[in-house]
Amino acid sequence: MFGLDGKTVLVTGASGGIGGATVRQLVAAGADVVAGGRSVDALAALAASTGCRTLPFDLESEDSIRGAVGDLDLYGLVNCGGFGGEIATPMETDISVFDKVIAVNARGALLVTKYASRSMIRLGRGGSIVNVSSQASLVALSGHISYGSSKAALDNITRVSALELGRYDIRVNSVNPTVIMTPMSAWYWGRPEVGDPLLSAMPLGRWATEDEIAAPIVFLLGDGASMITGVSLPIDGGFTAC
Ligand SMILES: NC(=O)c1ccc[n+]([C@@H]2O[C@H](COP(=O)([O-])OP(=O)(O)OC[C@H]3O[C@@H](n4cnc5c(N)ncnc54)[C@H](OP(=O)(O)O)[C@@H]3O)[C@@H](O)[C@H]2O)c1
Repeated sequence: MFGLDGKTVLVTGASGGIGGATVRQLVAAGADVVAGGRSVDALAALAASTGCRTLPFDLESEDSIRGAVGDLDLYGLVNCGGFGGEIATPMETDISVFDKVIAVNARGALLVTKYASRSMIRLGRGGSIVNVSSQASLVALSGHISYGSSKAALDNITRVSALELGRYDIRVNSVNPTVIMTPMSAWYWGRPEVGDPLLSAMPLGRWATEDEIAAPIVFLLGDGASMITGVSLPIDGGFTAC
């Protein structure tokens, strides 16, 4: 159905909520999935339940990324690893947190793209990359100066990578989800005084699930999206449209 049968796809952030759901859906689609993250135990548990391969590495280290990804033969990549950082205004931001958010969400994704796309070009069979961005890159969200900036950078990485890699039949897209109640977001958005105003401004008026993000990721990786590249796709219940 997706044309992913037997194709090798690397998913970073696979030890987390959205990444884990993406691994499960990709395995169900017949893909050969390589699950990345830092937590060896969480990756081992995912492998035991899905049959995926595991590849621990640190998105903050180019040496770690090069060592892990450099020799993989890849068709697909999902840049899902991410760090939420702080809730702060521009007036009070801790710039060391800003640096770390950028290092994981933008720099890390670019470095994985760097080594993964080299492998795709070397194999000469095309490919597909999906970056897990956020609605926070598309509109201003209170307190999201670091995180939103990192995801806006990721959206630009998506567009420029789509421009540069199209000639190799490699497509690059982003998904831009609203809130999913994973540990990254539940501590903040789970507070009614924070979450309720967002939900009341969203046509669908509810939080997304991990599987509702994984399904569009799998679609964008697959043959049904063969003419789609350079897109940042909101998965936000209509929030950024209103
Ligand atoms: N949850 C939301 O509401 C939401 C909304 C929009 C977009 N997103 C984006 O969706 C993606 C997944 O988020 P999630 O909600 O599934 O979060 P999560 O459950 O907290 O998972 C985060 C993942 O990123 C990995 N990671 C963090 N820092 C890393 C590093 N330095 N090196 C390697 N891996 C690292 C974690 O690995 P370890 O745990 O093994 O360290 C984990 O697998 C993120 O990019 C996030 O920004 C989330």
